[in-house]
Amino acid sequence: MWPYPRTLAHRGGGTLAPENTLAALRCGLAYGYRAVEFDVMLARDGLPVVVHDPELGRTVAGTGHINDYTAAQLGKMEAGAWFGPQFVGEGVPTFEAVVAYCKAQRIWMNIEIKPAPGFEVQTGAMVAGATRDYFAAEIAAGALLPLLSSFSIEALQAARQAAPELARGWLVEEIPDDWVQQARELGVVALHCNHKLLTPALAQAVKAEGLGLFCYTVNTPERASELLAWGVDGFCTDRIDLIKTSLATPPSSYAQSTAPRS
Ligand code: G3P
Ligand code: MG
Repeated sequence: MWPYPRTLAHRGGGTLAPENTLAALRCGLAYGYRAVEFDVMLARDGLPVVVHDPELGRTVAGTGHINDYTAAQLGKMEAGAWFGPQFVGEGVPTFEAVVAYCKAQRIWMNIEIKPAPGFEVQTGAMVAGATRDYFAAEIAAGALLPLLSSFSIEALQAARQAAPELARGWLVEEIPDDWVQQARELGVVALHCNHKLLTPALAQAVKAEGLGLFCYTVNTPERASELLAWGVDGFCTDRIDLIKTSLATPPSSYAQSTAPRS
């Protein structure tokens, strides 16, 4: 069973706002998205920040690597101008600030652990530990929690060790042949795969195994409907303008009892 929302805004606001910023979350919310995916990496001081690339240059103005700078320095850097003049001044947000915003706005989170190369264990442990701390009240209350995910097996193992009470999804490009064994060993609740490499038979097999099935990144309503008909539980999208959240309504229990508390 998939207790989570089915339609998530990729990197906060898809391709309608600078990815992984507070502006992206505001944009997602403006389109009715109360469920998001975003990426978390460690800054030089070990604090988690929300950003996709380990290097500066594409979305964050500057040179070098994310882990050359402290979280405070990254917060003052320019992460919005590349997208458009109306976003000038958006910094790289801390994970803490993004969680605080999401909790205040009752936005559910798929937190992707995105370690810089060589920092897999550290990042998995830090992000999971921080998430557990931020959601201590929800854990105690038995409320719906965020879902952690990662392409990094080492990060997933470290996250499990640091916060076993948090569910994890295993991100893959293509579902590998040994997925049943690997998923069992990792103790994950879901597989997260590239929808372009999924087949109906594989979707059925994953569901028959009792695992959740999540797809990235689905950008047309037609494809979204097709995947949901295959049994896919949820997906993230860059096209929050084209794909309405009503296309895939979350289970009714979510709205009644499981919204994160601020
Ligand atoms: O979590 C799904 C998706 O975000 C994985 O790819 O590169 O966009 O983080 P990427
Ligand atoms: Mg991601």
